[in-house]
Amino acid sequence: MDFSSRLLSWYGQNGRSLPWRGSKDPYQIWISEVILQQTRVEQGQGYFNRFMEAFPDVHTLAAASEDRVMRLWQGLGYYSRARHLHQSARYIADHHGGTFPQTSAGWLRLKGVGHYTAAAIASIAFNEAVPALDGNGLRILARLFAFDESIDGARGKSVLYELARRILPADRPGDFNQAMMDFGSVVCKPVRPRCITCIFHSDCAALRKNAVQDYPVRKTKKPVKTRFFNYFFLYFQEDGEEMEFFVSRRTGNDIWRHMYEFPLLETSTEMTTHELFAHHAVKRLLNNKPLLNSVYQVKHRLTHQLIVARFFPIRLSRTEKDRLTGTCQRVNREAFEGMAKPKLIERFCDQVMDRYSAAK
Ligand code: ADE
Repeated sequence: MDFSSRLLSWYGQNGRSLPWRGSKDPYQIWISEVILQQTRVEQGQGYFNRFMEAFPDVHTLAAASEDRVMRLWQGLGYYSRARHLHQSARYIADHHGGTFPQTSAGWLRLKGVGHYTAAAIASIAFNEAVPALDGNGLRILARLFAFDESIDGARGKSVLYELARRILPADRPGDFNQAMMDFGSVVCKPVRPRCITCIFHSDCAALRKNAVQDYPVRKTKKPVKTRFFNYFFLYFQEDGEEMEFFVSRRTGNDIWRHMYEFPLLETSTEMTTHELFAHHAVKRLLNNKPLLNSVYQVKHRLTHQLIVARFFPIRLSRTEKDRLTGTCQRVNREAFEGMAKPKLIERFCDQVMDRYSAAK
């Protein structure tokens, strides 16, 4: 039996049962593929189900506010995915009457859809015979053939892609692509692969060389950049009154664009409280109030960045509260609940904020 028949037969017995798998609806397949671009399947399922419940078709997604879409996406990270989904839904609804492209080339024209995602959607929803090779597929083939070129570069990738194109069964491209994804996640895993029970045990060139861990070959990794986020939690709390605090909306064109956070000073090195206090932006914000030490620190790891966030609480008097209104937005906890925010801000709210709402 050839590679694809054996893989498909493995998939028939071991394929994962996932909420989007029963459907050929391109909308559902599109949403699931975008969620899974940078998210593990285990985490993605809940988000997919909630997304479908809130926006069951492209028209409801197109009609939703950006804030609502971002709120549902909160916690998944890589927020440009949600913005692109939303923009593309509006484009499809407004300019194509809600009809989706039927080919991978057509999908590729939509924002947030790259080669892999376009191929996955077109093969699963429209049976187009194109390989969708993600990290899983590349790893399986690189090991099977003990492929010595790096898969980070375009050349190595294109050789494996060509190989996949030749073994892809024209009658079941979507199943083949999903079988590769599952096989790579369950058997041919990045660490501790299950080689002993693997159906390709006697065919795998890397295993024969006893070098499975050396494949796929990768170039040296891009260094991780550390960024220091100093957040100022400016709150107002008087007896018998509900706590209020100040938030601002991120405007820069980065991963958290349009999400809400506390007033922030980003620095490229770690600063002491004393150094921060001497900074002109902090002086202006605090208007000569003392700066106490941070009460909470959290590290947030992204693909090429490490964000070290510290939170400095500052209790405001009634006059100070009024002075700041206008510079940033004043909210209470309930209002802030409904706003989309980065995960590290959410963690501060869950773990630390209670101390201040009860402050005397
Ligand atoms: N990763 C990306 N797309 C996937 C899919 N359709 N099934 C399982 N894992 C995936």
